[in-house]
Amino acid sequence: MKKSFLKRILSSGFFKETSDSVVGVDIGSSSIKVVQLRQEGGTAVLETYGEIALGPYANIEIGRATSLSVTKKAEALVDVIREAEITAPSAAFSIPFAASLVMLIDLPKVSDRELTKMVPLEARKYIPVPIGEVMLDWFVIPQNDQDQRTKEDSDEPKKSNPLGKRSVLLAIIHKEVLHEHTSIIEKANLVNDFFEIEIFSAIRATLGQNLKPSMLIDIGAATTKIYIVEYGIVRTSHLVNRGSQDVTIGISKALNMSMLHAEELKRKQGLDPQPEGPDVEKVALLTLDYTFSEANRVLLNYQKKYGKNVGEVTLSGGGALMKGIKKLAERHLQTSVKLGNPFSIVETPAFLEQALKEAGPSFVVAIGLALRKLGEQN
Ligand SMILES: Nc1ncnc2c1ncn2[C@@H]1O[C@H](COP(=O)(O)OP(=O)(O)OP(=O)(O)O)[C@@H](O)[C@H]1O
Ligand SMILES: [Mg+2]
Repeated sequence: MKKSFLKRILSSGFFKETSDSVVGVDIGSSSIKVVQLRQEGGTAVLETYGEIALGPYANIEIGRATSLSVTKKAEALVDVIREAEITAPSAAFSIPFAASLVMLIDLPKVSDRELTKMVPLEARKYIPVPIGEVMLDWFVIPQNDQDQRTKEDSDEPKKSNPLGKRSVLLAIIHKEVLHEHTSIIEKANLVNDFFEIEIFSAIRATLGQNLKPSMLIDIGAATTKIYIVEYGIVRTSHLVNRGSQDVTIGISKALNMSMLHAEELKRKQGLDPQPEGPDVEKVALLTLDYTFSEANRVLLNYQKKYGKNVGEVTLSGGGALMKGIKKLAERHLQTSVKLGNPFSIVETPAFLEQALKEAGPSFVVAIGLALRKLGEQN
């Protein structure tokens, strides 16, 4: 558990708690992250935050992806809520990107009513399971944005955004995943405000109103998620079946050490070259070179298809905390790379600034969820 000491300041009266507090909960494969915010005079203020590793609930090491039962996940959720001293009665929860399908489709320009019938029919083409087993959501991309894009992209191939069509962002989630999440929340005696696929929460917390195409790479424990966003809208998404735990597994095997020791070495040394001692960098690159070449492929494909440069790349997830990863990403992607710092858009005590900046990439999804809830309260 990364202890949150913010709450102690709160109880000393430094900040005043209100019932308007909002909570974002990100149940990842290796850990649960929670963030509680409150609105004050148009600013989001951080009240508390915390993280709990799931490994120990499955009798495995910290940092590894788990597949826990509903009961065990609920237990961990209760623990992190208690330890972070979350007080708000309800929370917003993320749905893993891997459990969803997100895509941009073009539909004829029809009325909203016709669209309601058309989207599920169209969605069937992309869903390998009966439509009754999934939950559909969609968002019609505002016409202004499409007009603007068409104007700016006069050299863009017409078929990617033809006039007389409506671009619709389609999101599909398997109902089983929603049921499982609902059971965890009920077992933990919490109330759910809403679910959101983590891709949208992460974008809200990192890319803001950035109009230029930008890429977000979320390096989790078992997987890496790659999104390209333009005008705040997801244009491309891709899942790589490798994450930061693969680096640990690699170190453990190559250097013949326990997973626990390998995880420690990964966190302590990262990609920093060492004059002596084990060559962690060489082993880590076996995983990371693959992950970043995938990201580069996604980036080049996008640039080729739309004739636009992806100007900025943001790294998030626990894997982004690795020393030297920004430089490695820059080398692969040949563009400027930064680490997600979602706490920077939230008011925080000055003395915690550095610690929050360092932990920031891990809390991108949880903060994005809380920010949406804050927005809905206004
Ligand atoms: N300082 C660090 N240096 C290197 N790796 C780190 C560091 N801190 C955490 N990690 C790694 O980050 C990974 C966890 O990242 P994160 O918390 O984003 O995953 P998750 O959200 O649980 O997983 P997913 O998003 O895949 O469901 C672990 O594999 C862990 O080893
Ligand atoms: Mg995650």
